[in-house]
Amino acid sequence: MKQSFHATSLLILFLLQLPNHVSLSRKLTTPAPTPTPWPEQFHALLYMNLTSTHLQLCDLWYDWPRGRNVNIFHKQLDVVLYDIEWSNGTSFYYTFGEDAQCSVVDFGVGIPRPDFLDGARYLGRVVTDGFLCDLWEKVDFIWYYEDVVTKIPVRWDFVGGISSHVMTWEVGAILPDSIVQAPEYCFTKSVNRKTFFA
Ligand SMILES: *[C@@H]1O[C@H](CO)[C@@H](O)[C@H](O)[C@H]1NC(C)=O
Ligand SMILES: *[C@@H]1O[C@H](CO)[C@@H](O)[C@H](O)[C@H]1NC(C)=O
Repeated sequence: MKQSFHATSLLILFLLQLPNHVSLSRKLTTPAPTPTPWPEQFHALLYMNLTSTHLQLCDLWYDWPRGRNVNIFHKQLDVVLYDIEWSNGTSFYYTFGEDAQCSVVDFGVGIPRPDFLDGARYLGRVVTDGFLCDLWEKVDFIWYYEDVVTKIPVRWDFVGGISSHVMTWEVGAILPDSIVQAPEYCFTKSVNRKTFFA
């Protein structure tokens, strides 16, 4: 009786250690996967959960050749906020309608490069939103989940709690230039950016 208990606990100990051995030998034999670079042009619909736990949809139009990154935020039961970021570091935030406002900010840095995740640290495989993903972290700022089969991003989280879930992913989609023209009040009465992120 005592003997078999001993054998069982040894077996459990062995099984508990197994995943470590498996991952260790994997590390020794295969290099860690690297994130797939972003396509030069794509449209994604994102479901976002903000730090405040408020929700919003975001139409993300990334366009590296045109040097712009557009986020159109549909805040839940609230305004639609345009966020047009240019590669020269200037961003325009604006709304339309009765309370239309605009903020022009110079961040001094451009839009993310397609390979902005280069050098990210591989954290392993996890299931998120029901998809088996490879997970990376970069400079304690972004946690990035990519589907292991399709190589499409499923989710990314920013430090501080904003989490984006990718609902659609259209490679090659381009936003017409007319949509990104900042309205006239951006150039006459720009307000503080905090107005939009209170
Ligand atoms: C939003 O995120 C918070 C914090 O992680 C979580 O508690 C909450 O359930 C999330 N809400 C939705 C609708 O995903
Ligand atoms: C950056 O580019 C945008 C779009 O072409 C332009 O509207 C903006 O004035 C530029 N900013 C600077 C500081 O030149």
